Amino acid sequence: MKVLVVGGGGREHAIVQAVSKSKKVDQIYCAPGNAGIASLAECVPITPMEFDKLVAFAKEKEIDLTIIGMDDPLCGGIVDEFEKAGLRVFGPRKNAAILEGSKAFSKNLMKKYGIPTAGYEVFDSPEAAREYLKTSKYPIVLKADGLALGKGVLICNSWEEADAGVKELMEDKKFGAAGNEIVIEEFMTGREVSVLSYCDGKTIKIMSSAQDHKRACDGDTGLNTGGMGTFSPSPFYTPEVDKFCKEHIYQKTVDAMAAEGRGFKGVIFFGLMITEDGPKVLEYNARFGDPEAQVILPRMENDIIDVMEACIDGTLDTIDLKFADNAAVCVVLASDGYPVKYDKGFKITGFDKFDNKNYFCFHAGTKFDENGDIVTNGGRVLGITALGNDLKEARANAYKATEWIDFKNKYMRHDIGHALDEI
Ligand code: AMP
Ligand code: GLY
Repeated sequence: MKVLVVGGGGREHAIVQAVSKSKKVDQIYCAPGNAGIASLAECVPITPMEFDKLVAFAKEKEIDLTIIGMDDPLCGGIVDEFEKAGLRVFGPRKNAAILEGSKAFSKNLMKKYGIPTAGYEVFDSPEAAREYLKTSKYPIVLKADGLALGKGVLICNSWEEADAGVKELMEDKKFGAAGNEIVIEEFMTGREVSVLSYCDGKTIKIMSSAQDHKRACDGDTGLNTGGMGTFSPSPFYTPEVDKFCKEHIYQKTVDAMAAEGRGFKGVIFFGLMITEDGPKVLEYNARFGDPEAQVILPRMENDIIDVMEACIDGTLDTIDLKFADNAAVCVVLASDGYPVKYDKGFKITGFDKFDNKNYFCFHAGTKFDENGDIVTNGGRVLGITALGNDLKEARANAYKATEWIDFKNKYMRHDIGHALDEI
């Protein structure tokens, strides 16, 4: 089989790594890929929103399966374009990717179908939003409706902050059209867990749980980022939480989408908050998490191609999804200054110790320079993932492996998995 993966970050490297283990696959392409992905796949210089070029490439190379890693092309309808051209593709269609693409849509869906989530209101005018915020309870959460690289969420502690937030999202349009509408949501407290699943439109199979660390600095301080590290499984995702979510959240979401004529095939990522009143949905994503994929996929025992094909064919019920009884930790190596301002182009060394069995070096922002050296090319540079028999062993292994890598301005959090010390 020939497989094309669309995307070029750490998540796509983890997907390409999993695809490379499939006995069915002879050749992998990745558009655009990165310097690490290039060791497993032929990288193609087409960007993920160039649907026509991607379709033409897939036809020319007779690609058997295309896997879409990223949210932007999914919400933009890349799957519909591939299907129109008669090509096999893994991911939700545009009318289902809206589960991630519009927070107003997903909140209204949860309300309509009784799926537990924070109370909320949707506003399309700054005046009405401000009126509502004058009498709200604080803290309160403001969310841009559309995609905003995970940064369109503001937690406001006072009316003054909320007023400034409305200006930023709706008037200054910091995230463009994503702020045409906003969701104003009740603030929840509790432990956050990411749960990823495969769906075929009617059946849903849950993968192992994970926890992300979104803040830039130790102690969960500093700005929100795309994710500074993850661990899997989450010990806070207990059998009771799992039972509750299976009854009230997972299948209900898939059934709700089907009932709306928006059958969801692909990966649904449930961002959950385990509150005192039980688990509630914080957000949905229509794809693997980044860097959740980097700790989940190395633990998956199934052939990823079998699972993805079952999602496309509607036969997921025949798949016995299996995860190893071990643990994984990913520590992101970033460029100092991320997520605000950072320099690029520094040579990276120390790749040779990663065995791709217990230690993985997933590339995110890397590229080859004119000398053929691998250099930094983004805020998040590498995701250092290690397995272990348990979480603490995996964490020690991951931190050990971060020392193998060297580049100028290397920055990381030193407390990924700190919650594990509470148990
Ligand atoms: P989202 O993109 O909706 O997942 O929001 C990003 C982050 O903001 C989440 O991972 C939470 O840490 C935080 N957040 C979002 N919604 C809420 C909420 N209703 N209450 C508390 N924190 C929230
Ligand atoms: N790690 C969070 C996300 O992928 O959205």
